[in-house]
Amino acid sequence: MSRKRTAILISGRGSNMRRLIEAAADAKFPAEIVLVLSNRPEAEGLGFAKEKGIATAAVDHKIHAGRESFEASLQVLLELHRVELICLAGFMRLFTPSFVRLWEGRMLNIHPALLPAYRGLHTHERALADGVKIHGCTVHFVAPAVDEGPIIAQAAVAVRDDDTPQSLAARVLEQEHIIYPAALAALASGALEIRGNRVIERIVTRAPPPLRVPEAK
Ligand code: GAR
Repeated sequence: MSRKRTAILISGRGSNMRRLIEAAADAKFPAEIVLVLSNRPEAEGLGFAKEKGIATAAVDHKIHAGRESFEASLQVLLELHRVELICLAGFMRLFTPSFVRLWEGRMLNIHPALLPAYRGLHTHERALADGVKIHGCTVHFVAPAVDEGPIIAQAAVAVRDDDTPQSLAARVLEQEHIIYPAALAALASGALEIRGNRVIERIVTRAPPPLRVPEAK
């Protein structure tokens, strides 16, 4: 089966992007990263992608009159690179419902909280302020409402008494780096089925292992 052509959209540091690129460097990974797009030309992550020989582009949202024209520019690039799947990785722009529908079932996001808790920004600060004992991260399909959509994977992190937003964010980020490549691999290999708001992971039949011919005695 051919590897799914995947674009990663970033706005800044790009550590999740980096992990996805590293995972996809393995030829057996079912997705290949063909494009990294940023809405901020100065996004740090673009440099790493370029070094790895991946096509990059910045579509500055500030020079666009509105969301529709910004998204139209993104869509031109996505089509040019024959992109099949999109991973939002720290991409801090909201999409119109029509763009989301265009990519329904083919666009993932990672969020630094156990959704549906703590949608939006400053998730670690808010979790600490609420005194929760368990926090974490979520990979989900993108739906028109912000930080909603069928959940593919989550990882939980125990909150420590001496946690600061920074220390908690660092431990959650470690988990993000594990679940995002795993979720992309599951989607790209055709293992995911969306049933209502639930995602079911099916076992994908793989090629049988080569038959071992018994050695002659
Ligand atoms: C990550 O923690 C990601 O979950 C979060 O931004 C960070 C980006 O870091 N995304 C959101 O808050 C989206 N609502 P990275 O650029 O190093 O991957």
